[in-house]
Amino acid sequence: MVADSLENALMVKEGVEMKYHISTKKEPTFYFVGVTTSKSSIMNVFPLWAEALGRPEIVMEGIDHALHDNPGAYRRTVAQIKLDPLSLGALVTTHKIDLLEAAEDMFDVLHPSSRITGEVSCISKRDGLLIGHAKDPLTSGLSLDAVLGEDYFARTGGHVLNFGAGGSGKAIALHLIQKANPHDRPERFVMVNRSKPRLVKFQEMVERLETDIAFEYILNNDPERNDEIMAGLPDGSVVINATGMGKDRPGSPVTDKGLFPGDGVAWEINYRGELDFWHQAKAQEENRSVTVEDGWLYFLHGWTQHIAEVLHIGMDQETFNRLAELASGLRPHLVPKPRPGSDLAET
Ligand SMILES: NC(=O)c1ccc[n+]([C@@H]2O[C@H](COP(=O)([O-])OP(=O)(O)OC[C@H]3O[C@@H](n4cnc5c(N)ncnc54)[C@H](OP(=O)(O)O)[C@@H]3O)[C@@H](O)[C@H]2O)c1
Repeated sequence: MVADSLENALMVKEGVEMKYHISTKKEPTFYFVGVTTSKSSIMNVFPLWAEALGRPEIVMEGIDHALHDNPGAYRRTVAQIKLDPLSLGALVTTHKIDLLEAAEDMFDVLHPSSRITGEVSCISKRDGLLIGHAKDPLTSGLSLDAVLGEDYFARTGGHVLNFGAGGSGKAIALHLIQKANPHDRPERFVMVNRSKPRLVKFQEMVERLETDIAFEYILNNDPERNDEIMAGLPDGSVVINATGMGKDRPGSPVTDKGLFPGDGVAWEINYRGELDFWHQAKAQEENRSVTVEDGWLYFLHGWTQHIAEVLHIGMDQETFNRLAELASGLRPHLVPKPRPGSDLAET
């Protein structure tokens, strides 16, 4: 009865003659909302983790939306979680901004992380309330911190160059802005995006916050220009590919001739796909002493933090390590490929 009136209320908000067709789940269900969810490693990893967490009855179900799907489709997904008792919650990828824009009024509580970033990556339920979080600042931060270690920017004087002002790029910047220890904050952060709207939104977010990091916003889609920007960085700088290029679409934001900062860090935030950027950086790993990372740790922190929120459990280091160990056998194996076009490969 309550669910029925809630469903009708949601329907009225739609302003159209439609009713959500809520599927009544027989098993507790954790959703993964994305684009090609069946291809993600989580489909194989989740059952192992559910067992290890003592909740083997929970099943993982993917919901694939088209890129920039219509608002009604996102509202149906949110309604399914909100109205079906055994739908526990979700991790949302790719659609984090669109989903919140389409369905903000359906959430009872939005965490400040969602308000600042304008996105929802985690949908959970507590005491009958539907809750939205943006977990990326936390989870990208846990991954970056593990790669850089304490006082990285004070030790190296490096800057940050981030390609892609989407959800992840924004989260990484926010994480660095919020670093309490000034030695963990870079002096300069350069954000490059290929089109204007996301870059403007990013700039607006940064300008609403207090920060001593000098931000630069560059509108660019030319890999050779990106090589030049990269060449202007001091040694020790951190270069991040948060564009999805090399997984969601082919290529890399830089060319094979682009020189990564000496003694620096190259972070490709994906762990599967062609990963051209990762291969480009790997080709310079020894000659230029570049630390090269992929997105596996980000995957682990992302999923474990979302699971903790949805299942209302703690995620201490010991539990994280146990889950990481269980997942390690399912990690896609990356073998560096030579980049014949690069200057370094020729020498
Ligand atoms: N390892 C993990 O667990 C993990 C976690 C989170 C995300 N990811 C992956 O990270 C990638 C990014 O995620 P996201 O959520 O941030 O995606 P997103 O919101 O779609 O953002 C991607 C951004 O990159 C920009 N871009 C694309 N090509 C570019 C180029 N050549 N130069 C500069 N900017 C470019 C896009 O510009 P426009 O504004 O023009 O579209 C967009 O703003 C995805 O592939 C995602 O799967 C992995």
